[in-house]
Amino acid sequence: MDKKFAILGDIHANIDALNVVVEDARSRGVTDFISVGDIVGYNSRPSECIKLIRELNCVTVRGNHDHYCSYNESLDDFQPLAASVIAWTRRQLSEDDVSWLHNLPYQKSIAGFMMVHSTLDCPEHWGYVFDILAAEANFSYQTTSICFHGHTHVPIVYQRTSIGISQLAPVGKFKPAIGQKLFVNVGSVGQPRDGDPRSSYVVYDAKTRELEFIRVPYDVEAAMEKNRTAGLPERLATRLEQGR
Ligand SMILES: [Fe+2]
Repeated sequence: MDKKFAILGDIHANIDALNVVVEDARSRGVTDFISVGDIVGYNSRPSECIKLIRELNCVTVRGNHDHYCSYNESLDDFQPLAASVIAWTRRQLSEDDVSWLHNLPYQKSIAGFMMVHSTLDCPEHWGYVFDILAAEANFSYQTTSICFHGHTHVPIVYQRTSIGISQLAPVGKFKPAIGQKLFVNVGSVGQPRDGDPRSSYVVYDAKTRELEFIRVPYDVEAAMEKNRTAGLPERLATRLEQGR
């Protein structure tokens, strides 16, 4: 199989970032686009991002923001800032957008790898994997050597071998050895939170079974300006340049 995948996470309605990432991926010979969820929320262009993702035939799983923007459920579990933007985003979406988000699956297996927004153990509970203990719970459900995920907006690799689980810095290329499993957080296209404002994503080559972390600069100022013009809270503009 000669497919080359771009794995995009947490785009969060940032069309400036998404456009640049798609262009960068194409320049690297990517043939297929995959999204680990949270297409919408936080930034100003939810419908435009859904439109582009659908045009790319991007296989997508559901993020918590995608869920809460398309199901009329209580937002009590959300931080007030996130909850206010979900309410705003709901008002921007067309019926067709909402119906598309509503039908996204929680997880999917494709071309020998799995994909989920949060973690494979109870994906509908939106647990955050920030340590080895949380990664261990995921590995019990991971039946493929690689699973891609997002949700924390922080790229990282959890690796399980016969001697245990460790975490690896998301730099350069990785390839699972026989018997090894990788649980790979691809980071965020539209709202990185690891202190680096550049978009983060992963390219996976199905032929070589090698994955590579990519960082791409985009026009952060333009995205900030769009958020301000839309009347979104100032914090959602400044965090883009801070990468937090
Ligand atoms: Fe997110």
